[in-house]
Amino acid sequence: MDTKIEQLQKLKEQARQGGGQARIEAQHAKGKLTARERIEVLLDEGSFSEVDMLARHRSTKFGLEKQRPLGDGVVTGTGTIHGRTVCIFSQDFTVFGGSLGEVHAEKIAKIQDLAMKIGAPVIGLNDSGGARIQEGVVALGGYADIFLRNTMASGVIPQISVILGPCAGGAVYSPALTDFVFMTKGTSYMFVTGPDVVKTVTHEEVTFEELGGAETHASVSGVAHFACDNEVETLLNVRKLMSYLPSSNREKPPVRPTNDSSERVCEKLCRIIPANPNHPYDIKDVIREVVDEHDFFEVHADYATNIVVGFATLDGMSVGIVANQPASLAGVLDINSSVKGARFVRFCDAFEIPLVVFEDVPGFLPGTEQEWRGIIRHGAKLLYAFCEATVPKLTVITRKAYGGAYDVMGSKHIRGDYNVAWPSAEIAVMGAKGAAEILYRKEIEAAEDKIKRSQELQDQYNAEFANPNEAAERGYIDDVIEPQQTRRELIKALRMLRTKEDTNPWKKHGNIPL
Ligand code: HXC
Repeated sequence: MDTKIEQLQKLKEQARQGGGQARIEAQHAKGKLTARERIEVLLDEGSFSEVDMLARHRSTKFGLEKQRPLGDGVVTGTGTIHGRTVCIFSQDFTVFGGSLGEVHAEKIAKIQDLAMKIGAPVIGLNDSGGARIQEGVVALGGYADIFLRNTMASGVIPQISVILGPCAGGAVYSPALTDFVFMTKGTSYMFVTGPDVVKTVTHEEVTFEELGGAETHASVSGVAHFACDNEVETLLNVRKLMSYLPSSNREKPPVRPTNDSSERVCEKLCRIIPANPNHPYDIKDVIREVVDEHDFFEVHADYATNIVVGFATLDGMSVGIVANQPASLAGVLDINSSVKGARFVRFCDAFEIPLVVFEDVPGFLPGTEQEWRGIIRHGAKLLYAFCEATVPKLTVITRKAYGGAYDVMGSKHIRGDYNVAWPSAEIAVMGAKGAAEILYRKEIEAAEDKIKRSQELQDQYNAEFANPNEAAERGYIDDVIEPQQTRRELIKALRMLRTKEDTNPWKKHGNIPL
């Protein structure tokens, strides 16, 4: 028996060595951790249980039969984050460049199936040369098996992709199907075709980093939700994200103990809105002032910055925050911000995370560029997402709520549960200048002092509409609250809404305007 145990120990030690010391050193030299080191950083200490450590590929082509490394280039198993179970796969670049063959794919699919059965999130650490070339169509089939499981798991368990090396070709579509994509600056990249193919086809000269690096995807394409400075920071941010999420759609989000009083008065909020309604302020100052311990975990921070989305807790309860950002493009809704907001709203709704909206929006962005690229269709995504969401929906109008954007941002009419405004709110079809120019054009043109008359008419319009009064009279908002009471009131409303139940009519699925 002892010999057998020793043999087993040797075999497992061999598996832990992956592609061997030289390749591990090459990985470290690039500023990258190994597949196993990453798991250690990500999971609670000592919690990892590996499966399929002794799996080997069955391929006999291109001399592969002479090279059958244990584990087949991916480490899979389960562990815990903040004490809750997660399923994990971590591609090992030191083995065949982390490339995906039949057995490698089977291991990932097995972990995805397990996650669905036990209701646990899947976290994929991607570092791979893509489809294992020697295994041909079998590798392509393996990817499809994973894509199918990604799609079936969507909205059932949270799926997180962490890109820590190459991720190219069709391989990018598994991360794209998941809920959140993390990338590390300088060492990770994603693209459908690399710089060489791009040069051949379009004659563009572009570097790996420019084409598909972390900063590109976090700020230009929006494919990545997070771009972090190094691998440890990336993995710690994944842990942080997990602290807001339930393990599956069968559970409620976790409650985090907090020392921040639910009665805390937010005096700062009384001085945050500038005297001039056209001047900007940073909505993140409002968010941080309201949430527990001023701790706001922003998602998609560098993409479509005119809308802000992210997670926080209020009296320990997880909430998804969606806020217009007056400090970026005056907080206007455009194509990118609508899509960014819509995807976040749908994630929160799928996982029972209440939505808290801070609204200061002058409307949708005008112009041919936006119209021709389909602001109508894309703006409708945000509208659709808010309309179909059945989680508690709370909206605070801090200043402007103009036009269609008033309806979209969680208004009462689309099943908002708790809608309030600050006294600084302006709820109207449009701003005073535009309104005066349309309603009183002839009168202004006829006036001796056109500027003076226009201003008088704007003042008149403002007196009528630049306030929350009519909306309050009609019950379109539930209350006008003093800004410093915002935290207290939101927490009271959230507690009240804990037992909320609402449903949508039966359907196979809706037809969101994609
Ligand atoms: C088999 C691969 C491989 C692959 C890398 N390797 N990619 N083996 N299939 N796809 C092997 C290399 O042969 C090498 O083995 C080891 O991994 C490390 O690779 P290097 O090239 O030495 O590393 P590096 O210089 O860092 O370059 C990494 C790389 C490059 C940029 C990823 O390897 C590369 O371009 N690989 C091919 C990428 C690709 O075109 N994949 C297919 C994409 S299409 P040795 O033994 O020499 O160390 C795709 C379709 C998916 O994936 C379809 C889904 C529908």
